[in-house]
Amino acid sequence: MVMPIRSTLSLSLSLILLFLSIQVGWAQTVQKETEQAAELLAGLLNAGRVIVERNQSLINDPQKADKGFTPGVFEQSVLDEFARQTRVDLRASTSSVPTSTKELLTLLLSASKEVVHDAQFVINQRGIGYKNLIPATFGSQAARKFSTRSKVTIKQTALEPRNLQNAPDEYEEMVLKRLASQPSSTMPIVEWLGGGQLLRAVVPIYYSEDCLVCHGNPKGILDISGYPREGAQAGELAGAISIQIPSDHR
Ligand code: HEC
Repeated sequence: MVMPIRSTLSLSLSLILLFLSIQVGWAQTVQKETEQAAELLAGLLNAGRVIVERNQSLINDPQKADKGFTPGVFEQSVLDEFARQTRVDLRASTSSVPTSTKELLTLLLSASKEVVHDAQFVINQRGIGYKNLIPATFGSQAARKFSTRSKVTIKQTALEPRNLQNAPDEYEEMVLKRLASQPSSTMPIVEWLGGGQLLRAVVPIYYSEDCLVCHGNPKGILDISGYPREGAQAGELAGAISIQIPSDHR
């Protein structure tokens, strides 16, 4: 049977449209998954920071030798905190996140554990108080270890960084300046650059009262870590966790 030319045409047109909409749908799914991956990575790095902060007086205790703050203990606490914050439990066998996201999270978790592993000797030293294992140093080191092993980059940054390795690039500087001039918000800034080639996510961090022993007043006076205090106040923008994920990272 010969189809009339009109219906053949409309059939091929509908097929093309169907194909295109599947393509667009797929691209949108990948974009959404990548955005979720960025948010979860920032959440996992943050969970590590929270656990270091929660154990700070133990870590800094100059009387006690063996602190029991092992990479294994740290890992379980991080996973608990991460599950509490995100509802994603990386220990569960059936995961609610895509495999590629789970791989990234696992890589960040092992980088985080390595930082705690590498610090064991110092942590367990008697006679020293400040050991340079604080949320910020932990975060910088874990992010750097992770980034050298992945196409994905994670970094802690600030407009006037203490650690020059945390200096913002042009994009981060622009976003940080914008964030600094706005009321505080925990919403991450998420954008696709280069026509969808690169996802950039910037998650702002604000100072709380606890931070001011080091970052607060009197400005210019050295804190316990040996850096001059910034003279910051609670509620001000401290910096951000910045994440870059190329669209072809899988
Ligand atoms: C014990 C002192 C101390 C405390 C308390 C502290 N910080 Fe820091 N902070 C530092 C040091 C030291 C660095 C540099 C870390 C590094 O070498 O990467 C830093 C770095 C940072 C950075 C990364 C950018 C940079 O300057 O290199 C941010 C953001 C930051 N701190 C925010 C905070 C926030 C928010 C708090 C409170 C929740 C806090 N800090 C509490 C000492 C401290």
